[in-house]
Amino acid sequence: MKTLIKNGKIVTSSDIYVADILIENEQISLIGNDLPVGSNMKVVDAEGKYVFPGMIDEHTHIESPFGGTVTAPWKTESVAAALGGTTTVVDFALQSKGESLMEGINRWQKRAEGQSAIDYGFHIGVTDLRSETIKEIPAIVEEGIPTLKVFMAYKSDLMVDDQTLFQTLEASKKVGALVMVHAENGAVIDLLQQKCLEKGQVEPYYHAVSRPIEVETEATARAISIAEIVGAPLFIVHVSGEEPAQKIREAKAKGLPIYAESCPHYLFLTIEELKKPDFEGAKYVCSPPLREQKHHEALWKALQDGTLQAIGSDHCAFNFKGQKELGKGDFTKIPNGGNGIEHRFTLLYTYAVRTGSLSLNKLVELLSTTPAKVNGLFPKKGTIAVGSDADLVLFDPKGRKTISVETSHQGLDYDMFEGFEIDGIVSDVFLRGRQIVKSAKYIGTLGDGKFQKREPYGLCYESINYQDKIPQSV
Ligand code: URP
Ligand code: ZN
Ligand code: ZN
Ligand code: ZN
Repeated sequence: MKTLIKNGKIVTSSDIYVADILIENEQISLIGNDLPVGSNMKVVDAEGKYVFPGMIDEHTHIESPFGGTVTAPWKTESVAAALGGTTTVVDFALQSKGESLMEGINRWQKRAEGQSAIDYGFHIGVTDLRSETIKEIPAIVEEGIPTLKVFMAYKSDLMVDDQTLFQTLEASKKVGALVMVHAENGAVIDLLQQKCLEKGQVEPYYHAVSRPIEVETEATARAISIAEIVGAPLFIVHVSGEEPAQKIREAKAKGLPIYAESCPHYLFLTIEELKKPDFEGAKYVCSPPLREQKHHEALWKALQDGTLQAIGSDHCAFNFKGQKELGKGDFTKIPNGGNGIEHRFTLLYTYAVRTGSLSLNKLVELLSTTPAKVNGLFPKKGTIAVGSDADLVLFDPKGRKTISVETSHQGLDYDMFEGFEIDGIVSDVFLRGRQIVKSAKYIGTLGDGKFQKREPYGLCYESINYQDKIPQSV
């Protein structure tokens, strides 16, 4: 069946215009004014609404073993994402020690398959880089996984050393894969944590005390230098404040292919949340930690001037009861992470577009188009164009709501953004032409979402000399 979306105000990263969109065979087949209504055609009236490309969240941790427990599952989080206007996530799969990269990916594939309301891909977190792991990188890129993640923090668990970062960058560069990095100095954090605990500083607030911005700034600079030595592009995830952003700005000014994202919680919440009584500060424990208010301004500036290219949610959702509570009496045992998969787009619309910090086009660029380009999904996804997947979000700017755990769809017992007033409502969502949200209600079926094979040599390779892209065997 064909679907015709009539009279919506289409917003891409470059344009805003009123037109009709015809959907056929999961894709956009025509865009134009006064497109004729044919027989056997579903017609959707989008008059007065914006039509956005489906939002792409390049940073999620769904149903992920992490910090001694497991994050909220695909069956809830993917529906929450859909209701918030996100139609594709690229989730962080993790290699376990002793495992191949493919084994890690397969474990994530099994959990997502048949359980996701939206399309998905995976990055693979490298935790154990042996010579056979390095050799495996071309094969995982062939499987549609052209993005790898390296953690410079979480010493007891995921952290790797600088040699591993170097070798991952080197092997990835040969096949056009992109390395993403969690930049915090895990060795120094480990010492600072011990010092806090020795002094009896066990409450959630000391999570932030033990991870001052300098540990992020240092690791950001080190990762950039290592990427520079290798001559590889690098993507820095969840930049939390001014000094690390400045390191990225300086690297870009030198012409280095360094790219980075921030996340809603670093833009809208502060370190003060961690001081909430009755252990409630634990709800806001994430890494890097929330920072002081002054960093908000620095991050907005970095988004505006192109230092930061994207806003991922870093959705890593743990319940307060039974999960965050694991760290009562010892903040180092609080599982790190918060929510954002459902609210990323509407929060940014309300508190960035409506306030004049970002244009509508920039919003689409940061939340959809650039994530698609960086992650090898463009132009299949990330824009509204003939031939692109019909992943579309109809947004009613006249709607209003207040974020609350009572009405959020994430499988969680609290919401980091509780009480935030939201302008506009995601009214309808189409995933490859299939309507999965209607009048702000989920009407899809779990399993509508499909694994997306992604291409290597994405946006971050744009400035790399073409000679460097020729595989060494040629
Ligand atoms: O606290 C966070 N960010 N948890 C998720 C894992 C990570 O470091 O991205
Ligand atoms: Zn991280
Ligand atoms: Zn993360
Ligand atoms: Zn509902």
